[in-house]
Amino acid sequence: MISSDNQSLVHRTHTTQSHQQDEQPDQSSQPTIDFDPQNNCRPPHTNPLRYLLREQRLVFLLIGITIATLFFSSFPLSNPELVTTHDPGFESGSGLDLPANPTRRVLYEARGVGFGSVMSAGGKVPLGLKKKNQRIVVTGGAGFVGSHLVDRLIARGDSVIVLDNFFTGRKENLVHHFGNPKFELIRHDVVEPILLEVDQIYHLACPASPVHYKFNPVKTIKTNVVGTLNMLGLAKRVGARFLLTSTSEVYGDPLQHPQAESYWGNVNPIGVRSCYDEGKRTAETLTMDYHRGLGIEVRIARIFNTYGPRMCIDDGRVVSNFVAQALRKEPLTVYGDGKQTRSFQYVSDLVEGLMRLMEGNHVGPFNLGNPGEFTMLELAQVVQDTIDPNAKIEFRPNTEDDPHKRKPDISKAKELLGWEPNVSLRKGLPLMVADFRHRIFGDPRDNQGGSTTFA
Ligand SMILES: NC(=O)c1ccc[n+]([C@@H]2O[C@H](COP(=O)([O-])OP(=O)(O)OC[C@H]3O[C@@H](n4cnc5c(N)ncnc54)[C@H](O)[C@@H]3O)[C@@H](O)[C@H]2O)c1
Repeated sequence: MISSDNQSLVHRTHTTQSHQQDEQPDQSSQPTIDFDPQNNCRPPHTNPLRYLLREQRLVFLLIGITIATLFFSSFPLSNPELVTTHDPGFESGSGLDLPANPTRRVLYEARGVGFGSVMSAGGKVPLGLKKKNQRIVVTGGAGFVGSHLVDRLIARGDSVIVLDNFFTGRKENLVHHFGNPKFELIRHDVVEPILLEVDQIYHLACPASPVHYKFNPVKTIKTNVVGTLNMLGLAKRVGARFLLTSTSEVYGDPLQHPQAESYWGNVNPIGVRSCYDEGKRTAETLTMDYHRGLGIEVRIARIFNTYGPRMCIDDGRVVSNFVAQALRKEPLTVYGDGKQTRSFQYVSDLVEGLMRLMEGNHVGPFNLGNPGEFTMLELAQVVQDTIDPNAKIEFRPNTEDDPHKRKPDISKAKELLGWEPNVSLRKGLPLMVADFRHRIFGDPRDNQGGSTTFA
């Protein structure tokens, strides 16, 4: 059965056809057209040659082809110089490495973020573009050293991404960068992998004071081993340069004095400090193996005792202990006989050394420390002179595995990095005291945001 609608459809079709037949034009007086009367939708010019010849369409086609040719020869879709050549960083190595994805890197460099490498490859740089600043990750950037490093990198014009799990770091150390588009802070534990597109990685994440690294020794060694593997994997993946902040603790209780980088150390592998000492030694090993085996650009700094504003107040490190105790009118606690020596480096000197190392051409390891040697009793004396001449000294039994002497030999850093510290203890200590006084007593007159700038 056919519905009335369908009937009318059949009827209209029939009408149209008969109408067309009725009005078939005289072919002798009209241009020939190949028109299929069964298909009303098709244009009446299905012969391509005739279609092109009609109304200068051929001319328009030729003009279009010319414009397209000119456009694509001026702005090629892919610039072969932007595509990196084979990079071992894209190959999957250890199971902890991030999955390879070369496309991302190519796109990233094409956007100009990897400007330095494109420039050095001799790529075309559009006129008017300045050399791009770097994008840098600082792990542990909310901590004491890390936050001062971030200040310097931001001041230099770089973009900085801080990764920190805030175990010992504080947002307050970075609050002055909040709102700066060149600064990003990510709560992240380096024991987990992360993917970021960066040019350089400063790997500082690790608790540094004995109180903190002994708090959860397994976590400390995981941070040093798995965290370092993850950051090396990231460096490999994106072709970034990687700097490890190792420690003078890799020398253990040294039998050589002062310690040069060639000294292999005297470390107890099963002691309470081993999670840190051996963790850092393994981190150095991993760093060198990624360098030798996979061609990753790496740098290793062995940092000696450093002090300055933004140190954790009660972290058990000797300078912060003495300063906090003297400010609170408590006796200064000296462990053992107080004759063990340490060298104390002001944090701005260290940051300068780290940046020189990163930008230089030498892998290291490099000792970064102040060779000026003080016994604990001499340090207590400087603190008394700076804060309170009447502060008392109290002796306590020494802690296990506490090294007797530690003093860096910095000849290698002097020669190859052109670096040496220039802030003396008596000059640096008052800035740290002002910061501690503000944080302990909340005195706004002392608030300089923990800056290292001298008045
Ligand atoms: N300050 C020194 O005297 C000294 C000496 C030798 C080596 N170092 C090394 O320098 C680096 C910085 O030391 P610092 O004095 O600033 O210590 P810090 O404790 O102030 O800073 C360490 C930072 O790392 C973060 N962190 C710790 N574990 C983490 C993890 N698993 N994931 C992400 N973030 C984590 C902490 O929250 C903190 O912000 C450390 O690697 C330390 O071993 C410091």
